[in-house]
Formats: sequence, structure tokens, C-alpha cells
Amino acid sequence: MSVAAVTQLEAAALREIRQVQTPEALELLRVKYLGHKGDLTLILRGLKDLDPELRRQVGREANQAKAALETALAQALAALKAAARRAAAAEIDVTLPGRRPPLGRLHPITRTMQEICDIFLHLGFEAVEGPEVELDWYNFEALNLPPDHPARDMQDTFYFSDQVLLRTHTSPMQIRTMEQRRPPVRIIAPGRVYRRDSDLTHTPMFHQVEGLLVDKGITFADLKGTLTTFVHQMFGPEIGVRFRPSYFPFTEPSAEVDIECVICRGEGCRVCKVTGWLEILGSGMVHPAVFEAVGYDPEEFTGFAFGLGVERVAMLKYGIDDLRLFFDNDLRFLRQF
Ligand code: FA5
Ligand code: MG
Repeated sequence: MSVAAVTQLEAAALREIRQVQTPEALELLRVKYLGHKGDLTLILRGLKDLDPELRRQVGREANQAKAALETALAQALAALKAAARRAAAAEIDVTLPGRRPPLGRLHPITRTMQEICDIFLHLGFEAVEGPEVELDWYNFEALNLPPDHPARDMQDTFYFSDQVLLRTHTSPMQIRTMEQRRPPVRIIAPGRVYRRDSDLTHTPMFHQVEGLLVDKGITFADLKGTLTTFVHQMFGPEIGVRFRPSYFPFTEPSAEVDIECVICRGEGCRVCKVTGWLEILGSGMVHPAVFEAVGYDPEEFTGFAFGLGVERVAMLKYGIDDLRLFFDNDLRFLRQF
């Protein structure tokens, strides 16, 4: 036994370790050199039979070789495992079922809005849109609500300045449309409106659909027929509808329309405040002062207008008893529709 023999054995072992491709082959190499009957193990075990001087030299070399092989084996094993992990990650199993991207859907308010608009579009109305940040003139003054008119308190307003505000209703679109067109006018104006208001049936932002029809010879019968048709198409012909006298500065006469509370079927619940009815819109015959503000001759033309609360319709349509649920954006709620 010589030092050179040990050095050769070590070099051969390291070469083999470097070429190994699998953890199993690596284990076989470990057994071959360092196992119970491994080549290096046998050399170490035979040291006791050597002369003292040779035993010292071969012993030092053999122990160094053993440490070098152990290190090389550990490194090779780690490298093989890392390669296996990378390969597994890159592998695509084409037999797995595909992962579907989650499917979005329309918000119940959007859907209700579209249903409402569809009904009026089929009745021959045209949809127009306008600004949410509005001038006092359009939101109030041209609608026969001069400054200091007490009815301004009916709608708690968010103001930017004296003359600039968030529209409190979609009625300014009546003025904007009539300023630009001559009769016949037959429009709806869907959109967001804002009021300082919050409870079960009121939220600070909500949606309205405005309607306006102006022509020669339009009467309250046209208003009643149009809105009754709408309610029956929206909720079915059995639903109870009532026209209740009301007041708006921009219409005369005015009526609010209630429909039977579908949540309690008219029995009385917290949503309808135990009346069995829920107000869904305000309406009336366009006031002559409004026609004058836009340059229409009130002797020649008459018309009706209405403003529908989209959230109220959605509540009744889908049986939801708290308006605020619509805007919490809880997916568990929204997925039900
Ligand atoms: C108006 O806003 C009038 N511009 C409606 C109108 C138009 C009358 C044209 C005559 C001619 P009112 O404030 O009542 O009216 O609101 C109309 C509808 O909006 C109500 O019937 C109700 O359904 C809904 N609404 C009112 N306030 C809220 C609120 N804070 N949250 C949710 N819906 C509301
Ligand atoms: Mg009202």
C-alpha cells in the first residue's frame, strides 16, 4: 500500500462522482468507496498492518481522501435534487383539467339599469347622458327652483361652490336636452346622482333614470299609460301600482308612483316602513315655467317627465331589504345574481 495508490483512488472516485446522473447511482458510489466493504474503508482498516512510518503517511492521505469524497458526495446529491426540483416545476401536465379564469358578471344595479332602459328604448325613447358635476342653473334654477326656494331643502346637496354642485337628480338632463332640441322630444337619461342621505332605503350616491316626453297634445293619460306599462313590464302584470299626488316645482300636477312592496307582499316590513308600498319614482306634467326657461312655448307644447330610483327597483326586483348592500361590494352578495 502506498500514498500514490490512495491518491489515485481518490482521483478516480471524484471523477466518477462528477459524472453521476441520479441519486441512486450516487448512493452506489458511496457504498463502493466508503461503505462497510468500500475501497477506502478497506485501506483505512488495513493501516494497522503497515510499518509505522508508512502507516502515518498513508493514514494522513486516506483520511484526507475520505473527507474529500464525503464533501463531493454531499455536493453532488444537493445538485441532483435541485435539478430535479427545477425539472418538476417546468413540467406541464397536459392531462390536468384547465384552470378557468373567474368569470365576472354585471352588478345588479347595472343590470337593473339596462332592463329599465331597454323597456323605454322599446317604447321609442332615446338615451342621453350628461355631467354629474352640474351647475345650479340646470340642477335647480331652470327647473323652477330659484335661490331660496324652500323645495331646495328636499334634496340635501353636495356643493363645490356657490354655483357648482353634484347633481341631486337626473332632471337637469331635461333642461340640457330641451336647450338643444325642438319638440318632439322623447328621451331617457340614466346616471348617478348624489345626496346627503343614508339609511335602509337611501344612500349618498344612487342612480336615477330620467324620462321626458314633449310634443303637442301630451296629457296626464300618456304619463299614466307609459309608467304603468313600464311597471308591468318590469315586475309583471299582477304587481300593485298606485299614483299618489305629490309636489315637484318643475311639474304640475305631480305624482309619485309606488309599487306593492314585493319583500313583504304588501303586508308591511321595515323596507316599506310598514306601509306595504315603496316609492319608485317621481313624475308629473312639465311646468310651464320650465318650458319658458328653455324657450319652448307652453301654449303650443305639453309634456310629462319622470325620475326613477334604480336602486329601489333593484331592491324590489331581487328582494333585497337593505340598499347599502349594493355598494359594500361583498362578492358573496354579488355572486347571487
Ligand atoms: C326627484 O329626484 C325628481 N327629480 C323626480 C322627478 C323627475 C319628478 C321628473 C318629476 C319629474 P325624488 O327626490 O323623489 O324626486 O327621487 C326620485 C326617486 O329616486 C325616488 O322615488 C326614489 O326611488 C329614489 N331616491 C331618492 N332618494 C334616494 C336615495 N337617497 N337613495 C336611493 N334612492 C333614492
Ligand atoms: Mg320623493
